Order: sequence, then structure tokens, then C-alpha cells
Amino acid sequence: MKKQMKGIILAGGTATRLFPLTHTTSKQLLPVYDKQMIFYPLNTLVKAGIKDVLIIIAPRDAGQFLNLLGPIFDRHEVRLEFKVQSAPRGLAEAFVLGENFIDNDNVTMILGDNIFEDDFSEIIKNFQSGGHVFAKKVPDPERYGIVEFDKSGKAVRIVEKPKKWISDYAIPGLYIFDHRVCEVAKKSKPSDRGEIEITDLMNFYLKKSELQVSQVEGEWLDAGTFDTLLEASRIVKEKNLYENFDPKIEAAIAEFNEEQKVLAKKQLQ
Ligand code: DAU
Repeated sequence: MKKQMKGIILAGGTATRLFPLTHTTSKQLLPVYDKQMIFYPLNTLVKAGIKDVLIIIAPRDAGQFLNLLGPIFDRHEVRLEFKVQSAPRGLAEAFVLGENFIDNDNVTMILGDNIFEDDFSEIIKNFQSGGHVFAKKVPDPERYGIVEFDKSGKAVRIVEKPKKWISDYAIPGLYIFDHRVCEVAKKSKPSDRGEIEITDLMNFYLKKSELQVSQVEGEWLDAGTFDTLLEASRIVKEKNLYENFDPKIEAAIAEFNEEQKVLAKKQLQ
């Protein structure tokens, strides 16, 4: 039987770099131009035909996510599930928390603060097995998971936030794996910074020569600091990335807005 593609959005964490903004709400619910940030990664998944999405959230923010996304999506052919991550123990924990949800299927995981201009639909739809991640040249490689290529352009090593320079190619927060990733994540040990690292999972597939790495051509925004959050809104507006969302998402947002307007009117009466 053909495997389905499931989606996970990792939208937990404490976002201390955005205090005091994130004292009162989750980073992934902050605005990027005219929408909450989470709609951008959700759109990347839904546009690629993914119908089942698990959103992993921090305990404090669960109510706000449910208020915004909970009631509307089932009516628009996108099934959302929510799971609370009690503490930010690392990106790889998404596949431990998501094990039952993924089941025997494939999975695309996207970080809730990553916004992409590229359309990954074809890669996601055609994915069979192994792993597929992406690379983008950055000026500040010490901030990211970094991939080193050999002279022939083959990926040879992936290191999380390398202290010593190995390459300028960052791995953005979009990862496609088959279901074996759950077992690998469960066996993964915390690094020196106390997190189970997504790089360990990529290196598992890399060692087996089952990891593909493609280049990101368009904009990639990681909206985790004041400057990158501001930049994200500016680029989203300038490049019209806030337009032409998948019709299912457009319809869900429009319905949510209508319902809120009716509620607001009732409260005035
Ligand atoms: O943005 C791409 C980079 O994201 C990758 O190049 C790195 O390999 C990857 O580790 C990650 O680095 P960051 O330093 O940006 O990770 P951060 O701790 O900011 O977490 C990324 C998002 O995931 C953030 O929105 C919060 C969420 N998160 C994070 C952790 C550690 C969770 O929901 N749970 C967690 O346990």
C-alpha cells in the first residue's frame, strides 16, 4: 500500500530571544504581515497535499492555538491534531511525540517559525523513503545546522551550530523522513546543550547514503529574533508571500474571521 505523507509543525519552545513579546503569546502566533506566523508553515504542508497535520505546542499556549485553529480546519479537509511538549527537549523530540501519529507513513516536519518562498510540493509528493532535507547559503553559519559537501557536491557531514567553520550551507527547518525516524529519535541521546538533535537523525540517513539534500532557491526566513521577525514581515509583503495561500487555508481563515465578527456583534448587543 502506498504510504501517506503526514505533516508535523513544531511550534513549542519558550522563545526567550523574543521576550517580552512571547511573555503573553507563542512566537508562532505573532504576526508576520497580515497572518499569524503558523499559517506560513501550515501552508507549505497543505499546498503539498498533506491532509493530516500534528501541531506540537508548549503547555502554556495550548488554549490560544486551539482557539485559532481548532474549530475551523476539519470543515476544510485538513485534520489538525495537537500535542503538548512539556519542555523544549530538542527538535528531534517531534518524532518521539509524533510516533503514533506517523504510524507507518512518511512525514514532513517543518519548524513553526520557518517561512519559505519555494514550493516543495513536488518533492514532498514524490518522496518514497529515506530522508530529504534542504540547504541554503547563509552569512552566519554558526547559528544553524550546517551541511558540508565534498568536491563532487555530495553531502558528507551535518553539524549543529559548528564552532569551527565547515561550510556556509545551512539546513533550514524542513525535513522529510520515512517512519524509521521515530526509532532513531527514541534512541537519540541529548547533546552537550541538553537537546536531542535533529542533526543526529539526518546523519543516520546520511551514513546509509539515504539522505538527499536539495538547494532552497527562494527566500527562507527564520523569524526567531526581533530583526528577523521584522524582516520576515517586510519580505512577505514585498514578495507577496501573504497572497495565494492554499484555498483550504484561505477558506478556513475567512470563516474564522466571519465567526469572530458575529461574536463581536453579539457581545455589543
Ligand atoms: O531554522 C533552522 C534551524 O533550526 C536549523 O538550521 C537548526 O539545525 C535547528 O536546530 C534549528 O535551530 P534553532 O536555533 O533555530 O532552533 P530553536 O531552538 O530556535 O527551535 C526552532 C523552533 O522549534 C522554534 O520555533 C521553537 C521550536 N522548538 C524548539 C525546541 C528545541 C520546539 O517546539 N521544541 C523544542 O524542543
